[in-house]
Amino acid sequence: MAPVLQNKLVTLCLFALLCFLSTAESTRKGASVAKPCRAHTANIKDFGAVGDGKTSNTAAFKKAVAELAKHEKKGGGMLVVPPGKWLTGPFNLTSHFTLFLDKGAVILASTDMKDYPLIAPLKSYGRGRDEPGPRYSNFIFGSNLTDVVITGNNGTIDGQGQMWWDKYHADQLKYTRGYLFELMYSDNILVSNVTFVNSPSWNLHPVYCKNVIFSGVTVLAPINSPNTDGIDPDSCTEVRIEDCYIVSGDDCIAIKSGWDEYGIAVAMPSQNISVRRLTCISPTSAVIALGSEMSGGIQNIRIEDITAINSESGIRIKSGVGRGGFVKNIFLRNMNLYTIKWLFWMTSNYGQHPDDKFDPKALPEVTGINYSNVYAENATMVARLDGLQNDHYKGICISNVTAKMIPSDLPLWNCTNVEGVANHVTPKPCDLLRDQGPSGKPCAFPKATLAIDKVPISQCPFKG
Ligand SMILES: *[C@@H]1O[C@H](CO)[C@@H](O)[C@H](O)[C@H]1NC(C)=O
Ligand SMILES: *[C@@H]1O[C@H](CO)[C@@H](O)[C@H](O)[C@H]1NC(C)=O
Ligand SMILES: *[C@@H]1O[C@H](CO)[C@@H](O)[C@H](O)[C@H]1NC(C)=O
Ligand SMILES: *[C@@H]1O[C@H](CO)[C@@H](O)[C@H](O)[C@H]1NC(C)=O
Ligand SMILES: *[C@@H]1O[C@H](CO)[C@@H](O)[C@H](O)[C@H]1NC(C)=O
Ligand SMILES: *[C@@H]1O[C@H](CO)[C@@H](O)[C@H](O)[C@H]1NC(C)=O
Ligand SMILES: *[C@@H]1O[C@H](CO)[C@@H](O)[C@H](O)[C@H]1NC(C)=O
Ligand SMILES: *[C@@H]1O[C@H](CO)[C@@H](O)[C@H](O)[C@H]1NC(C)=O
Ligand SMILES: *[C@@H]1O[C@H](CO)[C@@H](O)[C@H](O)[C@H]1NC(C)=O
Repeated sequence: MAPVLQNKLVTLCLFALLCFLSTAESTRKGASVAKPCRAHTANIKDFGAVGDGKTSNTAAFKKAVAELAKHEKKGGGMLVVPPGKWLTGPFNLTSHFTLFLDKGAVILASTDMKDYPLIAPLKSYGRGRDEPGPRYSNFIFGSNLTDVVITGNNGTIDGQGQMWWDKYHADQLKYTRGYLFELMYSDNILVSNVTFVNSPSWNLHPVYCKNVIFSGVTVLAPINSPNTDGIDPDSCTEVRIEDCYIVSGDDCIAIKSGWDEYGIAVAMPSQNISVRRLTCISPTSAVIALGSEMSGGIQNIRIEDITAINSESGIRIKSGVGRGGFVKNIFLRNMNLYTIKWLFWMTSNYGQHPDDKFDPKALPEVTGINYSNVYAENATMVARLDGLQNDHYKGICISNVTAKMIPSDLPLWNCTNVEGVANHVTPKPCDLLRDQGPSGKPCAFPKATLAIDKVPISQCPFKG
């Protein structure tokens, strides 16, 4: 054997062994996340795919994932998508798997509705979000998986959502639109250095998942496209969202946990989530929303170093009668907002219900809300904070806020049924937030990081 080749083989074998060992090691620790590199690599072209943007590659993607799934227990598999436009119907991922999109690779979602079979609604929603009953397939989907990565050199996953948005607006859809990427009941997930565009509805939707990292992800949707939320952790534990850039027709980030009686019954909170270094544009909605589906509860959320350029609200808690659940221990610090209607918004009258079986006595518990170091320019109102008459939103702390307002007839603050404190806030806060004066302490932010914050991201040295 030629020495050069032999060297290469030795390096390859060592590399595969290292990958294998590090994957095995990561599963022993508390919080862990998938590592991108795998023992086996295949190229989508090996399965007959054609990257001309016209040929349907549904069979190729299905075959490729099925083939690499054979290596699940033998170091895992990586599917490389090279430069080109790869049109395909929806496909499912597998465990111990990396989808690698090289620079210039675009995976195009089919716009033929026949490619989207119906799947069951989520247990914690009881029905589809747009329409009762089942829902159309998500584009990239997986259930009950472990150790899954989507990465590469900033390739693109394009949902080609226009067809769905048009049909949605024309009221021509009998079922709920699919999401661009959804993982259900899965753990150890990494999405890094990929761009998602034009989702039919929500873009990235981990639901009932644990140990999930989104890092360096770009999400782009037209600012008038319906319900195109950026990233929606839903009934998930230990999630980290960092260094993302999101332009959305709805919320940039929406943390959720199920809808009314269905979410209450499933009782899986979204908890231990950190969001940092996010840049957001969302003129019709929130930079970060908690809810409106929050019936399984939302707790221990840390949000820091956020920039938004033209959004409706900075941080919004959405809930209502029938939701039940809780939103508690929410911490925000360092947010800059340029053009914003409300820096802070709390809504208690979210009236959308899955059906008429919701419990009118199921009221949300909203408490332990700490917001600090917020700066805004071109703001219309500082805050609209609405609790319920028999269910006040409590334990609110707002400190070190400077908002430069545009001239307007609207009140600067509008607070109802809320209780809390404020200090070092300009313009002067509403009376329901008792001003602590110059000696008021900054609102709390936990010193200890979450387990998921400590997980290092490893790179796959693969070069396309
Ligand atoms: C994906 O898996 C789900 C079950 O988890 C199944 O219902 C669906 O048909 C699969 N989709 C494709 C495209 O294979
Ligand atoms: C997936 O996981 C959920 C929750 O653990 C379980 O209820 C369900 O049966 C699993 N589905 C499959 C196909 O294994
Ligand atoms: C990734 O691609 C998107 C869309 O083309 C672009 O907006 C973004 O800046 C790119 N990110 C990086 C890190 O190159
Ligand atoms: C959430 O994080 C806290 C530390 O802030 C930790 O004590 C707790 O065990 C974590 N919960 C889960 C379900 O991982
Ligand atoms: C702020 O955070 C602390 C610590 O979690 C919490 O106890 C409190 O209720 C929150 N709000 C206020 C007003 O301190
Ligand atoms: C107040 O917030 C600003 C950012 O808006 C920050 O630069 C400043 O350091 C904060 N002040 C204190 C005392 O934390
Ligand atoms: C200020 O906000 C208004 C909307 O309230 C917007 O029309 C205007 O363009 C913004 N100005 C700047 C300089 O961003
Ligand atoms: C202020 O809050 C009250 C009570 O929720 C509401 O009826 C009113 O429309 C609000 N006004 C503005 C200008 O937001
Ligand atoms: C994504 O890109 C950043 C910046 O180039 C890099 O530090 C990070 O390791 C990359 N992520 C992966 C999974 O390769």
